Amino acid sequence: MSYKTRAAITGVHGWVPEDKLTNKDLEKMVDTNDEWITSRTGIRERRILRTPGWATSDMCTEAVKGLLEKTDTRPGEIDMLIVGTITGDMIFPDTANTVCDKIGAKNAFGYDINAACSGFLFALATGAQFVANGTYEKVVVVGSDMMSSIIDYEDRNTCVIFGDGAAAVLLEARRDGTGIQDFVLRGDGAGREFLHMKAGGSLRPPNAETVANREHYVYQDGKRVFKYAVEGMVSTSQELLRRNHLTIDDINWIIPHQANMRIISSVADHLGFPMDKVTINISKYGNTTAGTLGLCMWDFEDRFKKDDNIILTAFGGGFTWGSLYLKWAY
Ligand code: UT7
Repeated sequence: MSYKTRAAITGVHGWVPEDKLTNKDLEKMVDTNDEWITSRTGIRERRILRTPGWATSDMCTEAVKGLLEKTDTRPGEIDMLIVGTITGDMIFPDTANTVCDKIGAKNAFGYDINAACSGFLFALATGAQFVANGTYEKVVVVGSDMMSSIIDYEDRNTCVIFGDGAAAVLLEARRDGTGIQDFVLRGDGAGREFLHMKAGGSLRPPNAETVANREHYVYQDGKRVFKYAVEGMVSTSQELLRRNHLTIDDINWIIPHQANMRIISSVADHLGFPMDKVTINISKYGNTTAGTLGLCMWDFEDRFKKDDNIILTAFGGGFTWGSLYLKWAY
């Protein structure tokens, strides 16, 4: 049987900082408590990058270095590197170029994709096109955010949720039926009102007033985002199932964005999918924005089997959301 060429994930590696910020630590910083955070979000601790001089590119670099070692790939073999992030080292240049420099990927080019919590998903779908159509042989896709750099640790609505981390995957061509099969990606710019950072861009360049007003931090209307997140992840997953002639029973794993344990269980519930086949690591990392899907893959890699049908699904600022269906390649 001949299969068409598809881009497949042939390795995954993650990196998180050692420093932990626990619910007990947060109790001392804002008016919250471990019971509220655990029961409302499922998060017990998150990792915070505190290494002096380190930023998102350094987390990406560590993840990619591990990936290259694991997949026996030399930096010079990488053709393209995409980073999904909203917390790049600088507004410009992009973080992907910095990562290429730091890992010595002299033959690669790349760019960042700003799709917030859907960043990894959008980057994965983008990178896959270059591999599936034969333009490039080895594409690295990274999802990483240093959320601690844009979180207000005086705002209990947001500071309990987010953490820092990075994960990277290698994409290569496969002709054995495995790899990325299909995806449904969506966006609705009207959602920007409910999840954003008010200042620091061209709309409100940074000045003393924006800093004094604490406008350089994440703002979120959590309740509203929660509702749209469940709807968006469920509807795009259902669309994928429908158009690939699959039922939910054909799916071996769902890898959801880790924003809130209640969102994850609600998505599984609506899809009629068993929770023990949903990858969950939110309790130890919190919401690492573009980092979550890759970090889940990294944590559950040894449980995936070749040909497993897997759905990735995410929702985030923009609004951006979507789902991707792949057959695990190893
Ligand atoms: O990843 C990108 C997309 N983001 C998401 O998907 C996040 C979606 N939203 C959420 O995960 C949830 O909405 C939150 C975790 C952000 C909030 O949970 P919630 O159950 O929606 O709480 P709420 O905002 O409705 O607040 C309920 C109560 C309020 O008190 P009152 O007004 O009922 O007295 C809040 O002030 O809980 C209070 N509250 C807290 N209490 C203790 C809010 N944050 C905290 C806190 N500790 N950290």
